[in-house]
Amino acid sequence: MPDDGPALAQFEDLLAPAGQRLLAEASAVPDDPAARLAAGTRLRGSYPADLVAAAFGQAELRRRARGKFTRADQMYFTRAGLEQATGEQFARHRAARFGGCGSVADLCTGIGGDLIALAAGSDVLAVDRDEVPLAMAVRNAAAYGAAGRVSPLPGDVTQVRLPPLDAVFIDPARRTAGRRLAGGASEPPLAWCLGLAGRWQRVAVKFAPGIDLAAVPAGWETEFVATGRELKEAVLWSPAWATAPTRATVLPAGAQFTGDPADRPTPGPPGPWLLDPSPAITRAGLVGPLARRLGGWQIDPSIAFLAADEPVRTPFARLLRVEESLPWRLELITAALARHDIGPLDIRRRGLAGDVPGIHRRLRPRGSRRGTLVMTRADGKPWALVCTDPGEDPGDTPAIGHIKPRG
Ligand SMILES: C[S@@+](CC[C@H](N)C(=O)[O-])C[C@H]1O[C@@H](n2cnc3c(N)ncnc32)[C@H](O)[C@@H]1O
Repeated sequence: MPDDGPALAQFEDLLAPAGQRLLAEASAVPDDPAARLAAGTRLRGSYPADLVAAAFGQAELRRRARGKFTRADQMYFTRAGLEQATGEQFARHRAARFGGCGSVADLCTGIGGDLIALAAGSDVLAVDRDEVPLAMAVRNAAAYGAAGRVSPLPGDVTQVRLPPLDAVFIDPARRTAGRRLAGGASEPPLAWCLGLAGRWQRVAVKFAPGIDLAAVPAGWETEFVATGRELKEAVLWSPAWATAPTRATVLPAGAQFTGDPADRPTPGPPGPWLLDPSPAITRAGLVGPLARRLGGWQIDPSIAFLAADEPVRTPFARLLRVEESLPWRLELITAALARHDIGPLDIRRRGLAGDVPGIHRRLRPRGSRRGTLVMTRADGKPWALVCTDPGEDPGDTPAIGHIKPRG
């Protein structure tokens, strides 16, 4: 059996009635080595040993997949397929933009994370050269009631003949044999994926958020998607789809922001409120347009922190109340932390080098309130902002959510 999951024949055995009984028994065993050992010995009395191992493997992968898929317990995975799969909320967000496309190709389907969401609204031709994940993808679409809209096609996406389609989605592999491909490369390569736009008008390419923007041709839109404070992925939308050079999306709110990256409001000194933009905003180069939209300003032209006179709630930035704004000098900061009764401290650093754990040890704040020490530059000078979280209700906060609807 390959390390990464069952062979096709073994996967089919797992789908047969006896295999399903075995999988149910393996899934019911507590996630504990002693219990697994005892159950394994017992089950090998009734089933082939390699099928028992495959069933335990599936049960473990289903447990791990619960963070990505609400129906993980009805799905099938290879280890690599699960690692590379798009989680449900990302796939749904992306698939919404395929609305109105009757027929779509999902190239490099894997175990079908994207397929499930695409097949909720379109007929999907699912192509992957690895037949086990592809067979799993069809079962996974069935778990979401969408198998009727899926046509699997095993093969190399660079070789298969595709029928006429309304749109093409591709999520190329960025790792093989458990290893990330060097230099941000992918299989098929990014240039081949972008070339799909020579044959189809509507093409979307999922890629790593570290993508070199210089590799994205003019006229394409690059969407950066974050969840909470974590930047997760980039999606390149072909010119027929693009409405802006870049887009920042924050999930689960689904809030989206576009603007002209060249729009840079004049920087100014720190104000009573600080906004720490989402990594989707910073990666999309939209700090200036966000400042403009929120009525704020950058405290330094090269740094992404924004200042504001009013507290503004937005999914695109974390809001902090500035208790004190002062030059970066540890003795001044120690006194300011004491004045504001700050103890538990997060240090947030942008634009200023320094050993954060070392600074934390030297400050040793002893107060009772949680605070954030912002280490940055203001007007080119090393600067400190002693901040607190305003909590859920900082007064009459204007809420700014879906700032610019998708075009
Ligand atoms: C990143 S995974 C796709 C994950 C998928 N979107 C999901 O959400 O589950 C990439 C897939 O590309 C497939 N692949 C890589 N090169 C391929 C090629 N030339 N032809 C067909 N499939 C390929 C791999 O087998 C792998 O399943």
